[in-house]
Amino acid sequence: MRDHALAAVYPGSFDPMHLGHVDIIRRAWEIFPRVIVAVLQNTDKAPLLAVSTRVDLIARSLADLPGVEVTSFSGLLVDFMRHSGARVILRGMRAVSDFEYEFQIALMNRRLWSEAETVFLTPNEEFTYLSSRVVKEIWQLGGDVSGLVPPPVHAALQALPR
Ligand code: PNS
Repeated sequence: MRDHALAAVYPGSFDPMHLGHVDIIRRAWEIFPRVIVAVLQNTDKAPLLAVSTRVDLIARSLADLPGVEVTSFSGLLVDFMRHSGARVILRGMRAVSDFEYEFQIALMNRRLWSEAETVFLTPNEEFTYLSSRVVKEIWQLGGDVSGLVPPPVHAALQALPR
């Protein structure tokens, strides 16, 4: 068996992680022997949570999925993959509206590294309308996000000034 082909990276901003992300990771965990959640260190965006906080919250939110690795990366995703020994990129596909952007980055990543393959997973229907942007907006406006994010993320958001 060619084990290296089965390691999968789930990259993203995760600012913050929500239940749709957890659902995708759980599905990937059932398929791939090695799953790496990789948080992008993006200097362009003004983040809600520090990257190290996001990594910590993701790890604590996945406590029932032993073996899932959680880390951060900067630079090109394909360079991170080459170093980590993964060649599968996991992405969630919620709706047709996701398709154009996802198709573009999937093809670009394969152009950058011909061995990179993107695998799309669809979340449970109840999470198809969920996004970090929407969670952030509801939280900033004082709404209840407890049913949208894992408990460790909810506790961290509760502790932040809005
Ligand atoms: O959660 P997001 O913001 O949709 O995730 C986007 C992400 C992190 C997957 C994407 O921006 C990325 O891989 N950035 C790293 C830089 C890179 O490799 N760019 C080239 C591919 S377009």
